[in-house]
Order: sequence, then C-alpha cells, then structure tokens
Amino acid sequence: MTRVVYVNGRYLPYAEAHVHAEDRGFQFADAVYEVCEVLGGCLVDETRHMRRLARSLEELKIAAPMTAGAWSLVLREIIRRNRVSNGLVYLQVSRGAGRRDFNFPVAQVRPTVVCLARSSAAGKGDSAASKGIGVKTMPDIRWGRCDIKTVMLLPAVLAKEAARAEAAKEAWLVDAHGFVTEGASSNAWIVDRDGRLITRQIDNAILRGVTRTTLIDVLQRQGLKVVERPFTVEEAKAAREAFVTSATNVVMPVVSIDGQPIGNGFPGLLTLKLRADFHAVAEIAED
Ligand code: PDD
Repeated sequence: MTRVVYVNGRYLPYAEAHVHAEDRGFQFADAVYEVCEVLGGCLVDETRHMRRLARSLEELKIAAPMTAGAWSLVLREIIRRNRVSNGLVYLQVSRGAGRRDFNFPVAQVRPTVVCLARSSAAGKGDSAASKGIGVKTMPDIRWGRCDIKTVMLLPAVLAKEAARAEAAKEAWLVDAHGFVTEGASSNAWIVDRDGRLITRQIDNAILRGVTRTTLIDVLQRQGLKVVERPFTVEEAKAAREAFVTSATNVVMPVVSIDGQPIGNGFPGLLTLKLRADFHAVAEIAED
C-alpha cells in the first residue's frame, strides 16, 4: 500500500497527492517515467535507471527537475516513508502545467515530479515464476520512439487488457514484418533449439530495458552469448524456452504464446537459473 506520495517537493498523504488539471502529462502524455525494483529496502540498478531517466528527459527537452543527489534522497525517503521492503518505486516527470497549447510553454514552467513506492506481496514474483506466464501476441501500434520511456502507454494498456481477456499476463507486440518487438511492459527473449539466447537489438522500436542490460552482464559472467536480432512469432512458438525481463518481473518464464505451450509447457531451466542469478550481478544500492 502506498501511504505517502512525493509531489513537487512535498511528501503528501496518498489521498492528497494531486497534480494540476492542466498538467501536460495529463493532457499530452508529455512526460517520462521510471520504475525501479526495491529489494530488501534497497534500489536495484539505480544508476542505470537514473541514467535512462536523464536520457528520456534530454530527448524530450524537459529540464532536469533536480540533481542526481536530490533524486537519490527522494527515492530513499519515499521507500522509507512507505516502509517498502520488497516492491517498486515509480517516478514520473512531466514538462509541467500550463494553459493547453501543443507547443512547449514559452515561459519557464517547472516540471511536475511525482514519486511513489509500493510493496509487493512476499513471494508473489517467485510463485508466478514457478508456474510461468502466458503471453498473447498483438500488433505493435505504438509510435516510432519507443526507446524513450514516456507515459504514452495507451497501446500497452489496450494490449495488456486484450491479453488478460485470454488469461495471459503479458502481450508481445509484433511489428509489420511479423517480428516481436517487445512486451507491452517488458523485453522479450527466447532460447532456441540450439540453446542460443535471442532478444531484439536495441533500436527505436524498443525500450532499452535496464533488466535486459543487467541480464546481458549476467550472461557475460557465465560465458553465455546473446544474439541481438529480431525473432518472429513462429520462431518464438517453436523455441525451447521464452521469458520476459522488466524491473517488476525480473526474469519471468513464458510458458505459452497465444495458448500454445513453449517447450514442455513449464518454465525453462535456463530461464529459472538466470532469474536466480540476477540479483547477484545487479547493482543493489547502499542505503
Ligand atoms: N516497464 N519495454 C517496455 C515497453 C517497458 O515498459 C518496460 C518496463 C521494459 C523493461 O524495462 P526495465 O527492465 O528497465 O524495467 C521494456 C515498467 C516496468 C512499467 O512500465 O511498469
């Protein structure tokens, strides 16, 4: 449960945490965000998340609302005030509030900053991972700059809702050529029949997931190679294993695609090993 939300410099009770009606995040999705895992009260991969936030802000020419040091304090304080041991931190920065106008505000407006923390039920992720999840494929109808982590998430919302209607936990988005780009809120991976790990290369069609990057570090340490290339839905359905990566799922086995079992229909052994090894390599912040 979130008790306290940081809004523009103040820690407010949940029920009083509001932003302006003319906030550009609300009107234009003119905003970026980050989601960080919290493990044992500590931030996971904070450096990479904050680096990506800085890049997203730069790409949209939104002024940095505070220094790296201030971010670090706010993130820790919001974890502490919400007594989160395991869960997540969510932060969002919009260009700010002003009279509705497509053009950027001429006058200097202050970016809107919101930060909250939420606990997840103990063991929930591991229990889900022991069963694995189903995914449903959906056309990728998003824009051409999916590398920027904006709050423009309506296509993801609709895809996930369509997945849920078929009892699938994630949607895999498919481009016009039949290649999987990524999950609606995760990166997509397969292990082919020869044991090769395959995930789409970094370009504007996908978000450069922090979990994806750290998992590549895990693979390097284990002498495993990753093949970064697009893969088709057919290849994925014929794969030995499949999984998704994200800050909220870490490494999550995929056991079916569009209702068709992957491999033997159980979480893949390599996938589960990578999940188990992940936090030994990820950056776990000091308090
Ligand atoms: N989503 N691709 C998309 C489209 C995402 O939204 C996410 C994360 C990822 C994985 O990125 P990372 O490993 O840095 O979490 C890939 C977050 C968790 C969310 O929107 O809740």
